[in-house]
Amino acid sequence: MVNMEKIKYLAGSALKLDYDLGQKVFDLVRESSRRANEISKTYPDEGLEATFKEYKPERVWGEANLLLEVFFAFDGERLVGTAFLSKKNCDDLPPGTGAYLGGLYVHSEYWKKNVAPTILDKIKDHARKKSIKIIRGDTTIYPQTLKFYEKHGFRLGEEIFWEVLPGVKMKYYKMELALTDAIKK
Ligand SMILES: CC(C)(COP(=O)(O)OP(=O)(O)OC[C@H]1O[C@@H](n2cnc3c(N)ncnc32)[C@H](O)[C@@H]1OP(=O)(O)O)[C@@H](O)C(=O)NCCC(=O)NCCS
Repeated sequence: MVNMEKIKYLAGSALKLDYDLGQKVFDLVRESSRRANEISKTYPDEGLEATFKEYKPERVWGEANLLLEVFFAFDGERLVGTAFLSKKNCDDLPPGTGAYLGGLYVHSEYWKKNVAPTILDKIKDHARKKSIKIIRGDTTIYPQTLKFYEKHGFRLGEEIFWEVLPGVKMKYYKMELALTDAIKK
């Protein structure tokens, strides 16, 4: 049994973004994605496996200059949730007003327990404090993931395709959330 009261939410700025933590992110992304895909058969397996190179521990912090913050959920030493907020893909917006949400993954044993909504709340609070008005991203198209983002106010936009292997195209949707609420106390 998972004891949700034991889950600790930490910001990357409070941790060392080293290889070991990168390995935990890599393991989490693989587990969560494989399980989601096993359920919905959304993507070809070889395409999905090829996407994981983005999260290799030796390169996951590679765009650190673009990172605004990283969000983690831990059950003891076990990483069970993660998300990245960065300055990627926001060049068309007034400087400092946009942020890109990537890598929101929760370990499948911890799904449906409010981990992702808690991380998302922390992301929104952080973004508001930085005067960010728009959070955007490219979402995977697993039904549970689309439902999650729509429920939390993201507007889904155009389809995009990543040819991750020759002839293997992975579909995503662009998405956007306008931050209008006041900062929570
Ligand atoms: C999308 C994802 C991050 C959601 O994470 P999560 O922590 O399970 O999110 P929630 O806690 O909101 O749970 C989802 C559902 O469980 C329900 N739920 C939450 N707590 C619950 C509880 N205690 N008991 C029963 N149901 C519960 C939620 O209401 C929600 O239901 P709904 O879909 O009918 O609205 C997770 O499914 C995931 O990691 N997916 C695979 C990776 C992925 O695609 N990531 C996005 C990359 S862009």
